[in-house]
Amino acid sequence: MPENNTPSDKAKKPACEKPLEKRLIVALDFSDEDTTLHFVEQIDPDLCRVKVGKELFTSCGPSLVKILVAKGFDVFLDLKYHDIPHTVGSACRVAADLGVWMMNVHAMGGQAMMEAARNVLNTADSPLLIAVTLLTSSGQKELDALGIASTPVAFVRKLATMAQTAGLDGVVCSAQEAAMLRKTLGAEFNLVTPGIRLATDSSDDQLRICTPEQAINNGVNYLVIGRPVTQAKDPCKVILTINNSIR
Ligand code: C5P
Repeated sequence: MPENNTPSDKAKKPACEKPLEKRLIVALDFSDEDTTLHFVEQIDPDLCRVKVGKELFTSCGPSLVKILVAKGFDVFLDLKYHDIPHTVGSACRVAADLGVWMMNVHAMGGQAMMEAARNVLNTADSPLLIAVTLLTSSGQKELDALGIASTPVAFVRKLATMAQTAGLDGVVCSAQEAAMLRKTLGAEFNLVTPGIRLATDSSDDQLRICTPEQAINNGVNYLVIGRPVTQAKDPCKVILTINNSIR
């Protein structure tokens, strides 16, 4: 389990080496630079990290990532690379040059692909490298249709174990899978989880939701939260509320 369980645990060096208040990753799911920069002016890089995904990256490209890094934000580049090993390795190399803090690949690209990514991100200052296992939009029906004879839980465990064997730093997983993965993969492996909602949030398109506190108790290291923060009247206040709830 991560570092916030008992007083003696708190005294130890955290497994993920990050202070509690930086466990929050705000998903910058915007489509243009002006909106993104207006939003980030309202939040503090000392209190959260940010995620740049396919929409924002496709619209604004590497230059916006560099601006965010220059503003002091730890950037999680969420592009979920899935290609032949050589191409993924090359993409990871140029992504690392942007100065991002974390990036990801698809575990379904296989062990050789993940190892190719790991091999180019192999220095102490390389970004953290994590893998997406099974997308939370996929379940038993999708596995059956693909001819994959497994349950979602067993498949997630298999892919996450493969990611760990390939030397990756962690996986993206649902909060429901986190406790099982923490037990299977040990304390040092990072678990990064979307689908987080404050207890007071009304429901939206995220189905299997979890509060920040529940996610942390399940062994999650980093919480990915988008709309509850980006659509708030006072994003900074929501960030502080989340940080206080997991302190
Ligand atoms: O607004 P919301 O909090 O739902 O945003 C969640 C973020 O996490 C989005 O950027 C979404 O694409 C991402 N994500 C997710 N589920 C996954 C993987 C990523 O919601 N399985």
